[in-house]
Amino acid sequence: MRNKYVMANFKMNKSDSEVEEYLKTFLPLVEGNETKIILSIPFTSLKTAIEKTKKSNVMIAAQNMNENEKGAYTGEVSADMLSGLGVDAVIVGHSERRSNFNETDELVNKKILRGLKSGLICIFCVGETMYERKNQMTEQVLVRQITEGLKSVYANELKNIIIAYEPVWAIGTGVTPMDVEIVETVKVIRNILTSMYDEKIAKDVIITYGGSINEVNCKEIGKFEGLDGALIGGASLMPEKFAKIVSAFKPKACRKKKD
Ligand code: 13P
Repeated sequence: MRNKYVMANFKMNKSDSEVEEYLKTFLPLVEGNETKIILSIPFTSLKTAIEKTKKSNVMIAAQNMNENEKGAYTGEVSADMLSGLGVDAVIVGHSERRSNFNETDELVNKKILRGLKSGLICIFCVGETMYERKNQMTEQVLVRQITEGLKSVYANELKNIIIAYEPVWAIGTGVTPMDVEIVETVKVIRNILTSMYDEKIAKDVIITYGGSINEVNCKEIGKFEGLDGALIGGASLMPEKFAKIVSAFKPKACRKKKD
């Protein structure tokens, strides 16, 4: 049975002391929660967050890393530096990096391979633009992003991959896809994984959704068939709101059985 993952992406928000304040409020709110929680925070607060979450059920992720092992890459951070610090995961292929920093599928793949090698969970973001959706290109885009992004990734490494389906048009816009659009696209992603690996392997991959999730719509999204969690931007910046979203994605074992 797949776990549920609810992940925050703070993007370029919060100073070190603000992250510390956030955790003071957030950690008690999610204590004992069986849903897997990952906070993706700025590099400058990773150390603080790792220390403060040590005894908690919250994992810490970076939002980016360099694809090279080490060397003359001024300003960059390597996967080994992150894992050495105690970071659990890293976001790779976010659409903001693809569009603002020209990150290609090939680069995303290099980062994934490097991240896996360093023992990091890779939160692998994929998703189509509005133009692509309107022109029925969603599947084609996802096939390209996933087959290129997971090139040379072995089946046994997929346990450290979390796919985040984030349609570009839903990020920060307040617009979310219709329920069927999310459910159908998750199926499409699982089919792509089936054709790359096989059905049994694809069945175990964590597939989450991100884009304008808030403390209200999470109640519905949390129940979507086949969806294993969420990646949240704006609404994750407020600890109370994010804790509410976490509680909307309950692990299956915790759901009450129907009579
Ligand atoms: P919003 O939740 O602000 O739409 O951002 C989603 C996102 O980009 C998470 O990575």
